Amino acid sequence: MLLILALIIFGALLFGFLITKTTKEVPKSWFEWKTEFKYQYLGMAGLIHDAQYAARDRVTLYKQPDRIAVITGGNRGIGLRIVEKLLACDMTVVMGVRDPVSAKSAVGAIVDLNQTKGKLICETLDVGDLKSVRNFAQRIAGKYPKIDVLLNNAGIMFAPFKLTADNYESHFAINYLGHFLLTHLLLPQLRAAGREGKNARIVNVSSCVNLIGSINYKDINGLNNYYPGAAYSQSKLAQILFTRHLQTLLDAEKAHVQVIAVHPGIVDTDLFEHSATTSVPFLKKIFFKTPERGARTVVYAAIEPSIEGQGGVYLSNCGRGPFHSSAKSPAKCERLFDYSCELLKIKEYGNGK
Ligand SMILES: NC(=O)c1ccc[n+]([C@@H]2O[C@H](COP(=O)([O-])OP(=O)(O)OC[C@H]3O[C@@H](n4cnc5c(N)ncnc54)[C@H](OP(=O)(O)O)[C@@H]3O)[C@@H](O)[C@H]2O)c1
Repeated sequence: MLLILALIIFGALLFGFLITKTTKEVPKSWFEWKTEFKYQYLGMAGLIHDAQYAARDRVTLYKQPDRIAVITGGNRGIGLRIVEKLLACDMTVVMGVRDPVSAKSAVGAIVDLNQTKGKLICETLDVGDLKSVRNFAQRIAGKYPKIDVLLNNAGIMFAPFKLTADNYESHFAINYLGHFLLTHLLLPQLRAAGREGKNARIVNVSSCVNLIGSINYKDINGLNNYYPGAAYSQSKLAQILFTRHLQTLLDAEKAHVQVIAVHPGIVDTDLFEHSATTSVPFLKKIFFKTPERGARTVVYAAIEPSIEGQGGVYLSNCGRGPFHSSAKSPAKCERLFDYSCELLKIKEYGNGK
């Protein structure tokens, strides 16, 4: 009897594990198994946090017609709902997307673009291509001398190994390095928009999996031991280290710009396309946040007046969340920042050149 019970419990745990793995493959090494177990733990903790703080997860949309927001991605998933909310605030929203025409129709399918007082502009951007980032930033900086909000939202997760045109592993390039460069290039416009009592804001859409990330300086592309889950968590930790050090620099120069990192929640989007959860869409519908709910903390970080002046923080469900201990070390944050500047040959971060 006891054996049967033990077998049933084991079977249920195994089934749960198999349908929530980060990849559709079976882990091959202890490192891969360990990474999977960490993801399982964080996934459960994330779902519990989302349920526990559901009532707090609210953002008030208020009119701010004179303000401009730039977002990477935004044609689907959480980003699309972020755009919807910013347009409801009557903001001008500039989307940096790979396909501007289809992005505009995606927004048009959920927002009446003839009625909204917000303004939508779609520009070409591949955030994983440094040349494209530079072209996009140049166009945007030329058109808008002031930018009030920059939302670094675009991202990929658990993708098979791929190097970008610039020879960077794709998670590192898209989720982190491209946004690091974009922020550098648009910082003059953000500085120009911020004023006493009304900071410009940079929102880095990170993830709770930053908690299990580590920056592999010896092999940043993971060439020797690539595992998609490890590449994703590295990129999401990198965004938080970046957030923290950039805020330190901005505070030192007394710029009216604040930088915030966000975990949007566990959200039912295409981001999970490479994971085993695609086999159980109904479970995602039940337990995961909708993209609309996923957009709330991000928009909160971008516009909420009560967090004015609170830069360098990490938000989850519209409140403070736990983040990796290395991001509490200014030296570790600075190390990644300097390393990234070296990779991109940036001499003076934030001068827009
Ligand atoms: N969903 C979650 O549970 C969750 C949890 C934690 C954090 N996040 C973070 O939230 C952000 C948004 O994710 P999501 O769930 O909304 O994912 P999604 O539905 O898969 O959307 C990803 C977005 O990123 C864009 N994108 C990807 N690669 C790009 C590139 N090279 N250049 C320009 N745009 C690119 C996509 O545009 P295309 O259509 O052109 O591919 C799309 O707009 C990501 O940073 C993700 O890491 C999500």
